[in-house]
Amino acid sequence: MSEINLLEEMPYTKRNYDAREAEKTPEIVAIAKKFGEEFFDGERKYGYGGYRYDGRWKPVVRKLCEHYKLPSDARILDVGCGKGFMLHDFKEYMPDCEVAGVDVSQYAIHHAMESVQPFLLNTSAESLPYADNSFDLVISINTIHNLPVERLKVALKEIQRVSKGHSFVTLDAWRNEKEKENLYKWVLTAETMMAVEDWETLFREVGYTGDYWWFIAN
Ligand SMILES: C[S@@+](CC[C@H](N)C(=O)[O-])C[C@H]1O[C@@H](n2cnc3c(N)ncnc32)[C@H](O)[C@@H]1O
Repeated sequence: MSEINLLEEMPYTKRNYDAREAEKTPEIVAIAKKFGEEFFDGERKYGYGGYRYDGRWKPVVRKLCEHYKLPSDARILDVGCGKGFMLHDFKEYMPDCEVAGVDVSQYAIHHAMESVQPFLLNTSAESLPYADNSFDLVISINTIHNLPVERLKVALKEIQRVSKGHSFVTLDAWRNEKEKENLYKWVLTAETMMAVEDWETLFREVGYTGDYWWFIAN
């Protein structure tokens, strides 16, 4: 289990935390939490403001393949795969790999990239419909913190169960009071957020032995 930033080649997004806080209402939060069209492709105040493929995962995919020394026929699962952008890039980079994705959003699965749509399932991270030890790598980016903590623990155990050993999750977290303040201003959908050391305690409690990184509002 280690803290490692495998997303360092992602483009930096500048965020205006005060503007988000001023705009956020309980109605906007409720709409975002449905993970429907508004969250992905509606106005920015509801979520992504247009969730379109732009190839941004390509360097991350290359890094993951190298870091975990994945075989060319690796089985890879993305928990919270959205429209399957990252899995599409895995398939392009390693055509012999086998990909699978789950997402609680029917909208995202329905509007997923054609290249990977047959491999995606509309289900929650809490019950992954796969055998024990069946994936060479399980990834979950900014997803399971959308569950309340007890359900999140179940999801982490599921990730641990279906992985052969390598997994990588990223979660909403802070390292100081300023980052905590910014995160609370920014989040729309997260149910569980905590300081990095508290996440590490939780990982040990549930027996999660994979790698991890953070979504930090700095
Ligand atoms: C911030 S988006 C991240 C999507 C993708 N991983 C990425 O980084 O582009 C969060 C995703 O988690 C999905 N999600 C939320 N709760 C979930 C759950 N319980 N199980 C599976 N997916 C979930 C949402 O539908 C959404 O696609």
